[in-house]
Amino acid sequence: MARVFVTRGLAGVALGRLRDEGYEVEIWPSRLPPPRAELLKRTQEAAGLLAMLTDTVDSELLEACTELEAVANFAVGTDNVDLEAATRCGIPVGHTPGVLTESTADLTVALILAVMRRIADGAEAVLGGEWLTWEPAFLLGRDLHRASVGIVGPGRIGRAVARRLEAFGATIVEGGRGDDLGPLLADSDVVTLHCPLTEETRHLIGEEELQAMKSTAYLVNTARGPLVHTQSLKRALEDGWIAGAALDVTDPEPISKEHPLLEAPHLLVVPHIGSATHETRGAMAEMSVDNLLAGLSGERMPHCANPEVYDDD
Ligand code: DGY
Repeated sequence: MARVFVTRGLAGVALGRLRDEGYEVEIWPSRLPPPRAELLKRTQEAAGLLAMLTDTVDSELLEACTELEAVANFAVGTDNVDLEAATRCGIPVGHTPGVLTESTADLTVALILAVMRRIADGAEAVLGGEWLTWEPAFLLGRDLHRASVGIVGPGRIGRAVARRLEAFGATIVEGGRGDDLGPLLADSDVVTLHCPLTEETRHLIGEEELQAMKSTAYLVNTARGPLVHTQSLKRALEDGWIAGAALDVTDPEPISKEHPLLEAPHLLVVPHIGSATHETRGAMAEMSVDNLLAGLSGERMPHCANPEVYDDD
């Protein structure tokens, strides 16, 4: 019986479809990702790998796993997978575009509002007994409805964020790959990041970019942590180059509670929950299983991140 290694338990019923199709499904039982040696060992025994964004699927693994026929990444982002190596090895890699767009856009707007309207500060003030009375100048934030929002990476998720923000009355400025971000950074009240992590976009936002932003502006990142240079962000918050930041993704990730970034003021961090709804994670699981079943039966994956693997068809 061919085996599929799934690197974490998934909510919902999608994995049952693999069993129904006659695959032996091995699920890594821990909340934490399999250590490297376990990932290698268990994938070497498998025809299919259902991986999370926390698993490094690199050339070493792909070349060592000679039985491997298909990889399904439980994410739209594939920066954890060496797609070139997978193509070289003839292994299609599936991913989950589209199904998490709206949930990630919802969370982005939640973070923008939370950091602009100081929602976490307010909740903390109540718990800390600081709500003494109604005060005219207590916990003042900034208005989203009159803000100019710079969307860096106007792909599917960026456009879904723009649609929502237009309904709030914000003005949208878009900046794509290869554009000069200078004007967007200088004019925006909020800069929100929605581009994939590549060698080109790593540290897209560093000291120079943060200094180019308004001192009243906010940075929001729900894409990938390494788009932002962490030490520069800490300085930007401490030295008041920007007014605040809200992050769903960090570098490193996860970020420990002792990490120096978390000492910075006006910072809200949540633990990579952009797609974390019952509905969306269920849809991601179904799509990952669709990809895996197609890949394992030699059919074209419905959502393949390295379609060039089929070029020789
Ligand atoms: C993705 O799919 O790339 C997301 O970051 C997971 O939420």
